[in-house]
Amino acid sequence: MTDHESLPETLADATDRELVGIVAVADNGIIGTDGAMPWHLPEDLRHFKETTMDHPVIMGRITYESILETLGEPLPGRTTVVVTTRDLETPENAVVAESLEEGVRRAEKAARERHDDAERIFVAGGASVYEQFLPALERLIVTEVHREPDGDAHFPDWDRESWREVDRDDRDGFAFVEYVRE
Ligand SMILES: NC(=O)c1ccc[n+]([C@@H]2O[C@H](COP(=O)([O-])OP(=O)(O)OC[C@H]3O[C@@H](n4cnc5c(N)ncnc54)[C@H](OP(=O)(O)O)[C@@H]3O)[C@@H](O)[C@H]2O)c1
Repeated sequence: MTDHESLPETLADATDRELVGIVAVADNGIIGTDGAMPWHLPEDLRHFKETTMDHPVIMGRITYESILETLGEPLPGRTTVVVTTRDLETPENAVVAESLEEGVRRAEKAARERHDDAERIFVAGGASVYEQFLPALERLIVTEVHREPDGDAHFPDWDRESWREVDRDDRDGFAFVEYVRE
């Protein structure tokens, strides 16, 4: 078991690839409701697909199950690394990890073996996984959704002073924004 303060170093030590958080978050911080997304934004789904394609994507078990329910399979063209304490059976393009550290190690292996040495490892939620990974993330790719939905899953509070906006693409009702850690 790793203590909280040394976790970022432990995770970063497990890979030389950039650890990148990708999230869609409402103006009130909500990211989910009842285990699902609180909105249907096809442009955001396309953006997520294009950004993460041919990379490893780490996610928590609840998010994984919500994707299985929607798509009937894990994200095509990517390796999903499911963080869980359960003994899940997964199809070929998904693997299970019992800790964040093991998740990064498995993502690193998938990047090397299946994704032509992809330079990034994505962290795709949900709330508990973002919260635990945040100190180790180097880049955040955020869809800022200009709504105030009800919900039960939040993106963790993050210190904006420690992050620099490097890209912004304003659309109708939302924006694709990229931040790097200062
Ligand atoms: N808006 C967005 O961009 C976005 C993205 C992703 C998800 N979401 C939303 O977020 C919500 C889900 O978030 P959530 O926090 O409830 O669930 P989650 O983070 O997806 O999954 C939580 C589960 O992951 C496992 N887990 C987490 N940390 C672990 C660790 N350190 N070691 C081992 N296992 C660990 C545990 O699974 P076990 O119980 O199996 O041990 C835990 O119950 C949903 O509403 C979803 O739609 C939104």
